[in-house]
Amino acid sequence: MTSSTPVSIGRRRNEPPRVAPVPHVHRTPIPAWRRSARLGRFVAATWAKRLRPDLHIRPIAAELFLTDNCNLKCISCTCWHENTLGELDESEWCSVVDQLAALDFMKANFTGGEALIRRDAARIIAHAREAGISDLHLNTNGIVLDDDRIDEVLEAGVRSFNISIDGPDPESHDAIRGRDGAFEITVDALERLLARQHKTDIAVRMNFTVLRTNAEHLPAMADLAQRLGVDLYLNLGTDTTFLFRDQGISDLTKVDGDTLTAALAGFNERRQRNPEHLPNALDLDYIPGHFGLEPTIDVPCVESQLKLMVRSTGSTGGCWGHDATMNVRTTPIAEIIDSPAYREEQARLFRKDCVQCGSNYSVNLRTQPNTLVPMVARSLRDRAGRTARERGRS
Ligand SMILES: C[S@@+](CC[C@H](N)C(=O)[O-])C[C@H]1O[C@@H](n2cnc3c(N)ncnc32)[C@H](O)[C@@H]1O
Ligand code: SF4
Ligand code: SF4
Repeated sequence: MTSSTPVSIGRRRNEPPRVAPVPHVHRTPIPAWRRSARLGRFVAATWAKRLRPDLHIRPIAAELFLTDNCNLKCISCTCWHENTLGELDESEWCSVVDQLAALDFMKANFTGGEALIRRDAARIIAHAREAGISDLHLNTNGIVLDDDRIDEVLEAGVRSFNISIDGPDPESHDAIRGRDGAFEITVDALERLLARQHKTDIAVRMNFTVLRTNAEHLPAMADLAQRLGVDLYLNLGTDTTFLFRDQGISDLTKVDGDTLTAALAGFNERRQRNPEHLPNALDLDYIPGHFGLEPTIDVPCVESQLKLMVRSTGSTGGCWGHDATMNVRTTPIAEIIDSPAYREEQARLFRKDCVQCGSNYSVNLRTQPNTLVPMVARSLRDRAGRTARERGRS
């Protein structure tokens, strides 16, 4: 049997293919300095790729959609529009993470849908940790993230979290999230996580997706982030990526220019007073272009090279805006990422011959040779300002 033969051992007729089991090897997570070196090599490769577009860069992080199903009904998302069946089961996901670890992936982002509606989510994450994937991240709406669940995912090895908050108050958040009371539950989960930072070294980020109906709240989101003491990431509404393709969502991405300009001015004002927990000015400069209000900042898509997408039913490859054409149930991951089809597509995506989604625009901006230096200079300035303010307080 060649390695690309669909797995059929022990299968009954008409049963769908399953991800082939691979040996589960316990590896020690790589030390921080080796992770930084690996990241440095990756960024250097993306710079070299500008000169040599055929250079193949293997992804080092995986975006794992444990499920496409959800416990909320956000107006900006289609996850809940239908019940997705035939998703990878626990043993299949364990084989996926074993394959990723064998390929030296250093990061796994667990997401969905809502990953935590799977009771086996923590076991899959723990399996990734045992396999040696060092950075484990979770995106969640926080609805089921009570103290027990926090213990469970921390024990499994998650060390960074994105918690989605779509507005600074119950009215605005719940209207987008489709459930009364969601704001209170999610902010409570966020605060519980923040309280754990004293005991465990975890990074927590509040993810605010900018949409037509909440753009005006940007200044209030800056206030909320600083009041809670949590880093704020401004995610940008889109209708081009997997899970967000829908006419109603397209309407939500049409942000009014005057509203956005005024909201960004209010946000920047707060940032000038105190940049703590707020996005870098470089990120803020990108936002009007994303919503078509000025020309976009034209940078290659490093995000498409950084990550391998594995969706809940096993389709693997592509990027946020372009669907995968291969499936881990029929092709091992090593073969997918070295296939000519994958390599050709990645070359196209890097030069943004794509539907333009803006996903993780921050990573694209931060990894440019011409933006890296001003960005580091800005964050040093911010840090100096913070230290001066702290000195002033003490
Ligand atoms: C699809 S959710 C999956 C994780 C989890 N269910 C949650 O809500 O955080 C991932 C992120 O996508 C964001 N999102 C939802 N609709 C979006 C849209 N139309 N464009 C861009 N991001 C969107 C959510 O706010 C969330 O931060
Ligand atoms: S954005 Fe997250 S919480 Fe909302 S419906 Fe989509 S997957 Fe669920
Ligand atoms: S910007 Fe383009 S290449 Fe990058 S993830 Fe989005 S659709 Fe893919």
